[in-house]
Amino acid sequence: MRRFEGASVMITGASSGIGAALARAFAAEGASVALVARRPDRLDQVRRDIEAAGGRALVCACDVSDAEGLRAAADQTAEAFGGLDVVVANAGFGVSGCLEALEMEDYRRQFEVNFFGVIATVQAVLPHLIRSKGRLGVVGSLAGCFGSPTTSAYNASKAAVMSLTESIYHELDEHGVSVTCINPGFVASEIRSVNNQGKYTGNPDPVPRWLVLPAERAAADMVRALHRRKPVVFITAHARWLARLNRLSPCLVRWVVRRMTRGKLAKFQAARRNTRPPSSDGA
Ligand SMILES: NC(=O)c1ccc[n+]([C@@H]2O[C@H](COP(=O)([O-])OP(=O)(O)OC[C@H]3O[C@@H](n4cnc5c(N)ncnc54)[C@H](OP(=O)(O)O)[C@@H]3O)[C@@H](O)[C@H]2O)c1
Repeated sequence: MRRFEGASVMITGASSGIGAALARAFAAEGASVALVARRPDRLDQVRRDIEAAGGRALVCACDVSDAEGLRAAADQTAEAFGGLDVVVANAGFGVSGCLEALEMEDYRRQFEVNFFGVIATVQAVLPHLIRSKGRLGVVGSLAGCFGSPTTSAYNASKAAVMSLTESIYHELDEHGVSVTCINPGFVASEIRSVNNQGKYTGNPDPVPRWLVLPAERAAADMVRALHRRKPVVFITAHARWLARLNRLSPCLVRWVVRRMTRGKLAKFQAARRNTRPPSSDGA
C-alpha cells in the first residue's frame, strides 16, 4: 500500500535538489504533486519525470516572496487535486560571507526567502490544511542549531525557521494539522552552487562527496517523517549526531567548528584584505 495514495501535495523549491527529489518521492507514494519555484523550465522537467513514471504533477511558477502568488498556487492546487493534504515549505538558499563583508541588504534578502518565504507559504496553504487536517513540513537545517563563521545570515535564518516551526507546531495542533521541522545536514543539491543573490552559478559543490547524502535518500526519510507526523527530524547521520552532541556539549561543538573552519575564515579574510581600497597615506 502506497503511503500517500490519492493525496494532494504542494512543495516549494521543487525545481532542484531536495524539493525535486521530494516531489518524485511523493508521486511514487501515490500523491499528486504541485511544484512551486521560480524557474518554470526546471519545474517542467520535474513534472515530465513524474508523469513519465505514471504520476500526476502541476507546475506553479512563483517566488516565495510573493504572498499573492503563493495563495494563487495553493488555490490552484486544491482546485486541481481536490484539496491539499501535505505542504512542504522547502525553498531556500544560502548567503555566505563574514558579517563585516556583508551589507544589511544581504541579510534582508536571506530572511526574505528563508524565513518570510516560509511564513508566506504557511499562511497561503493554512485554510486548505485545516480543512484536510493535513501535514506541514518546514525545512530548517542542522545549521540552525549552532553558528559557524561566514554563514551567519544563513544560520540565523534557519534558527528563526526552527523556532517559528516549534511555535506553530502547538498552534496548528489545535486544528489537527501536524508540523514537522525537517533539518538536513549535507544533502546533494544545488544549494552550494547558488550565489548570494539566489542565482544558480554552476560552480561545483565544495563539500566532499562522502559527507553528502543523495537527495533521493534524504527525500525518502522526509516522506517517512511526514507520514508519521513527527515533530522534528534530522536528515543524515552526521546531522543527527551533531545535533545531539550540541545539546550535550555546546562547548565541544564550538571547538570542533572553530577547528574545522579555520582555513575558510582565513581565506575570506585574505580576500577582504585584497579588495580593501588603499588608505590615503599609502599604507
Ligand atoms: N542541501 C543541503 O545540504 C541542505 C542542508 C540543510 C538545509 N537545506 C535546505 O533545504 C532546502 C532545499 O535546498 P536544496 O539543498 O535542495 O538546494 P537547491 O537545489 O538550491 O534548491 C533550492 C530550491 O529553492 C528554490 N528557491 C530558491 N529561492 C526561491 C524563491 N525566492 N522563490 C521560490 N523558490 C525558490 C529553488 O528554485 P528556483 O531557483 O527555481 O526558484 C530550488 O528549487 C533549503 O531550504 C535549504 O536551506 C539544504
